[in-house]
Amino acid sequence: MLKIAKGRISTMAVIGAILFMIVQVIATLNLPSLTSNIVNNGVATGNISYIWKIGFEMIGFSLLSVVAAFGNVFLAARSSQKLGKNLRSDIYKKVINFSNDEFDKVETSSLITRTTNDVVQIQNVAMMALRMMIMAPIMLVGASFLAYTKSHELTWIFVVSIPVLLIFIGIVMAFAIPLFRAMQTKTDRINLVFREGLTGVRVIRAFRQDKFEQDRFEGANKDYTQNAIKVNTIVALAFPIMTLIMSGTNVAIVWFGGQLISSQTMQVGNMIAFMTYAMQVLMSFMLLAMVFALIPRAAASATRIQEVLDIETKINDPEKPVALPATKQHSLAFDHVDYRYQTAEQLALADIDFSAHSGQTVAIIGGTGSGKTTLVNLIPRFYDIEKGAVKLDGEDVRSLKTADLHRAISFVPQTATLFTGTIRDNLKFGNADATDDEIWHALEIAWSTATFGDCACVS
Ligand SMILES: Nc1ncnc2c1ncn2[C@@H]1O[C@H](COP(=O)(O)OP(=O)(O)OP(=O)(O)O)[C@@H](O)[C@H]1O
Ligand SMILES: [Mg+2]
Repeated sequence: MLKIAKGRISTMAVIGAILFMIVQVIATLNLPSLTSNIVNNGVATGNISYIWKIGFEMIGFSLLSVVAAFGNVFLAARSSQKLGKNLRSDIYKKVINFSNDEFDKVETSSLITRTTNDVVQIQNVAMMALRMMIMAPIMLVGASFLAYTKSHELTWIFVVSIPVLLIFIGIVMAFAIPLFRAMQTKTDRINLVFREGLTGVRVIRAFRQDKFEQDRFEGANKDYTQNAIKVNTIVALAFPIMTLIMSGTNVAIVWFGGQLISSQTMQVGNMIAFMTYAMQVLMSFMLLAMVFALIPRAAASATRIQEVLDIETKINDPEKPVALPATKQHSLAFDHVDYRYQTAEQLALADIDFSAHSGQTVAIIGGTGSGKTTLVNLIPRFYDIEKGAVKLDGEDVRSLKTADLHRAISFVPQTATLFTGTIRDNLKFGNADATDDEIWHALEIAWSTATFGDCACVS
């Protein structure tokens, strides 16, 4: 998880957030001591000016704590959101360069979950880490030490309440963590079934499988919901029990502290301060538990994102690309080309050999599944071939810059894709400065070719 944050989160902002948080903890830890001073030296002796003086000090520390908390939240929120933004754009940058081979590896629905939901998990944990993961241990050590200085006699109460709390947290985590971890795969499943239902809606209707598909979606939906309900129930149940443990600790402090006060071995102010420190100690444990409960889910998300980022794109620009001549007249040649899909045993295309020159129209005719689409996909290098060469103007397409190659080719796939916007926006996709005449020309070509199948136009 740290690997995924490295370089994508600003170090300065993280350091700033931590510094603000340290100031906040120090200010917060000071308050109970001041309360005990007011009670011991002001209230007990009726020293009004002392009460005023310490009162102002307390206001000062409270304000400092609020300002520091604001600074910490501001920086933590900013840097975790930026981390999310950077992750999303890195995934997008990676995915947009995927060849069809790589798209065959990771489900599109899963890619969407990984870019949205998984990134949010990482963002949340980064935020929590900058807020609490560092605050809790400092608070824990500081409050325990200060509690000890206020009363050695009562410290034994911790020896009972902390293990009770820890055992309880352990039980809750043992149940909750596997459920938290399962949330991501269940979200994936919902997206997968939903997407299949949408893309296959015609087939589903034609075969009257609406009910079956609905049930399948219901299944995935229910599975996710039940998991979420279970995990939230566990967390919801945990809170009252934790409050009970904290209240029990308070009662014990008042009970035993009261006896110490009546035997004159402890001052009232010290007991009040001790109580507040005890709460801070137990609170720190709870905060740590909360962060640790979120970590497994975020760790699963981090692995899923890393998986995408680690996929090596096979089709890359060559190190020393050959420049295409600056002409609009191109020629295309297939030189004894073999191609096999990486998941297939047999060749999809074997020994394809032909050439097409500027002004010529070449139609590839064949039955369904004979490899027409596959052949056309090899021209813009959507897949790399196994043997032979695909040549544009006599140059192997693998020796060209992909951007140059794509500039020289117009590509009209059989299944059309419309992007959000007007028809004109869609037509201008390949050339933002296209004139009306050019747009009409493109429409005419599209009309005469797209109805027959895939089409690649190189001149
Ligand atoms: N992504 C893929 N992975 C593995 N095999 C594939 C893939 N896409 C297509 N094929 C297989 O490759 C062969 C050629 O398919 P292709 O889509 O090129 O045929 P086509 O001639 O365009 O058919 P149609 O006339 O139906 O459009 C088929 O046997 C098909 O099952
Ligand atoms: Mg086809």
